[in-house]
Amino acid sequence: MKIVSIGGGPAGLYLAILMKKADPTHDVTVVERNRADDTFGFGVVFSDATLENFAEADAESHAEITRAFAHWDDIDIHYQGQVLTSTGHGFSGMSRQRLLDILQRRCLDLGVTLRFQTEVSSIEPYLDADLVVAADGVNSTVRALSAEHFRPEIDWGWSRFVWLGTTFPFSAFTFMFKSDAHGLWRVHAYRYNDSHSTFILETTEDSWRLAGLDAASEDDTVAFVERLFARELNGHRILKNRSLWRSFPTVRNARWHHGQVVLIGDAAHTAHFSIGSGTKLAMEDAIALAGALASHHDVSAALAAYEAERRPQVESTQRAAQMSLAWFEQTERYHGRLEPLQFAFNLLTRSLRITHENLKVRDGKFVETVDRWFAEQAGLQTGTTILAQPPPPPMFTPFRLRDMTLVNRVVVSPMCQYSAEDGTVDDWHLVHLGSRALGGAGLVITEMTDVSRDGRISPACAGMYRPEHLMAWRRIVAFVHRHSGARIGLQLAHAGRKGSTRRLWEGEDQPLAEGNWPLISASPLPYLPHSQVPRQMTRQDMDEVRADFVRAARMAEDAGFDMLELHFAHGYLLASFLSPLTNVRTDEYGGGLASRARYPLEVFDAVRAVWPAGRPMSVRISATDWAEGGFGPADAVALAAMLKDHGCDIVNVSSGQTVPDQKPRYGRLYQTPFSELIRHETGLPTMTVGAISTFADVNSILAAGRADLCVLARAHLYDPYWTRHAAFEQGYELPWPDQYTSLKTFTPRPR
Ligand SMILES: Cc1cc2nc3c(=O)[nH]c(=O)nc-3n(C[C@H](O)[C@H](O)[C@H](O)COP(=O)(O)OP(=O)(O)OC[C@H]3O[C@@H](n4cnc5c(N)ncnc54)[C@H](O)[C@@H]3O)c2cc1C
Ligand SMILES: Cc1cc2nc3c(=O)[nH]c(=O)nc-3n(C[C@H](O)[C@H](O)[C@H](O)COP(=O)(O)O)c2cc1C
Repeated sequence: MKIVSIGGGPAGLYLAILMKKADPTHDVTVVERNRADDTFGFGVVFSDATLENFAEADAESHAEITRAFAHWDDIDIHYQGQVLTSTGHGFSGMSRQRLLDILQRRCLDLGVTLRFQTEVSSIEPYLDADLVVAADGVNSTVRALSAEHFRPEIDWGWSRFVWLGTTFPFSAFTFMFKSDAHGLWRVHAYRYNDSHSTFILETTEDSWRLAGLDAASEDDTVAFVERLFARELNGHRILKNRSLWRSFPTVRNARWHHGQVVLIGDAAHTAHFSIGSGTKLAMEDAIALAGALASHHDVSAALAAYEAERRPQVESTQRAAQMSLAWFEQTERYHGRLEPLQFAFNLLTRSLRITHENLKVRDGKFVETVDRWFAEQAGLQTGTTILAQPPPPPMFTPFRLRDMTLVNRVVVSPMCQYSAEDGTVDDWHLVHLGSRALGGAGLVITEMTDVSRDGRISPACAGMYRPEHLMAWRRIVAFVHRHSGARIGLQLAHAGRKGSTRRLWEGEDQPLAEGNWPLISASPLPYLPHSQVPRQMTRQDMDEVRADFVRAARMAEDAGFDMLELHFAHGYLLASFLSPLTNVRTDEYGGGLASRARYPLEVFDAVRAVWPAGRPMSVRISATDWAEGGFGPADAVALAAMLKDHGCDIVNVSSGQTVPDQKPRYGRLYQTPFSELIRHETGLPTMTVGAISTFADVNSILAAGRADLCVLARAHLYDPYWTRHAAFEQGYELPWPDQYTSLKTFTPRPR
């Protein structure tokens, strides 16, 4: 087989090695524009796990690579005059040039032809090969020449960074954060041999310009860095090597192969350097491609198999890298606001790859220190002393809102049951909510409960507008208070234009076949094209709906609820005022956010005025509509600030469901970044919800300060005892109700 690799970086050289090794009769050539000993860049970094893959793929180069390594376990975080250290991370650094030397030598030993100083500007001369490997890096010429087939997408980061070296041998992987008159500077530094380290400096575009670095030569940059980090460098020099300021391009391609041409390494995909995975991904691509070619005789089948195997792994790394890139773009959000331990924990868990649980395995002491600090804060916040040794996991610390103290940070999310009779909840709701309260959550929030008959989503929705409703809810509240340690909140709402529809399982958001009732909304816009057109609310409607909310709040007090949550989310009546997509009014209730928020805040104020001062109020919001021109995260921050001024105690941060053509980006914890944004920008406590299902994620979110409470919906449908089971798994003792005392002598064995 004739193979040409265009590009002699780690991807191209490693693929050449693996192919020649698999079959010495292959004719393998690597074409490279640089000379053999041209260097650019300084060090590369690999995790211990990556090295195991290399050992299996080619023991010879692996042995040489490991001989050239600087290995470290620690991550040092320099923050506000302190150095926080976390250990157990198992990484190795080596010089990029050394890596290329090893790979080039191995190529030559195996009989690969290396053609240096050969610029490829057209692919035609190489198409006589059976396989053309585009390993020509981030600015791939081959990719550009066939852009219509590969369909590349390049997403440019906002930050500016420069890749430098230093003679200072950092003893750990080091993150430094330093402010000067121009802004906040982030450093990613690691040693790659006995006497040298990579030193990447990153900052915002504004700080970069303010510091005059947009017009700086390489020497100016070096002088600037040596001045700013004089103390940390302790007399050592900064080294340049094509050290130009850049923005990070995240490269993605719709396809990775076309005919006999295949993209690998940076040509196919990039992942932000802060998770240190570019060279690893490039070499793992080579392993997968060589493997696919070995098991398929037909090149095109092999290329399809290679892409099918690698794409999910690469996309997962790119998702983690994107979270990390965003963290470094927005470090100002955390810097100076978070205490050192929480800042460090937040940094270490930024990409969601490392959780509270895996960090415990790597560095149990560090996590125990974080947990102790977290428990102390919870003690201060609730006026309690937490003496437990070891400290409780963050999820099992108390949290207080006004006079309500929750025993832990797990919340059962509001979930419509579509099982009420003319608004009256019954035994289903008693068992549903009662068992979730017994299940150990600190707070149970009822389903969306409507303040009037016409305010229901469906004929089977719960209500709080008739005396029977009060009695039925009182029975449930009494059960929760008598038999569990949970507190219970009532979610109050009016369905607005999303009302008069069927039960979830009979057709979500679909209008009733018969028995419809008239709808009202901020503007006369139907939800679906075939939905009923709502009437635009008049001032009289507003007065009536406000009075309905006030009546429901008084009934909730009588029923004994501990907390009220007003529903400003998911496109229902109050939400319809907030989004510019559903509110096109030209009076004082439409227009800018302050005007659109006027009526929802009026309802909030009216309810707050009658709801007992000692009991808290939450508001659930949709932090983004996930739709062009809609309500977005900046609006959510502004709204949360208004809510805080109006006496709201906590926001429950959800998203979407405002318009049917939304384009949400689902994924694990996909709404948590909005909670974190609001919490840090406004100082208002938050609940986060959405695709949270493990206690590792709950503990991570809390310890990192991304929310004060974690809300789980479907996880609680699946397992009403979710909190109890999480306690068991963590070895944390959560007392059972007396009726279940016998469980003390029972050891669960789920498998
Ligand atoms: C600031 C920064 C820090 C990084 N830190 C790390 C890190 O710590 N660890 C890590 O693993 N990765 C890191 N990377 C990423 C890493 O450099 C790349 O991901 C990795 O080198 C990709 O390997 P590759 O073989 O695909 O591409 P490259 O290494 O870019 O190799 C491509 C080769 O193709 C050649 N070439 C390009 N075009 C042509 C042409 N038309 N004709 C002939 N030859 C051509 C180039 O000269 C080059 O030698 C970092 C990147 C940056 C920008
Ligand atoms: C069956 C069901 C009913 C729901 N009903 C409500 C509701 O009444 N009020 C509300 O604010 N959200 C409601 N939601 C949304 C959830 O509270 C939650 O925000 C969403 O399911 C995401 O959380 P999860 O990923 O943990 O399921 C409902 C979700 C489900 C699955």
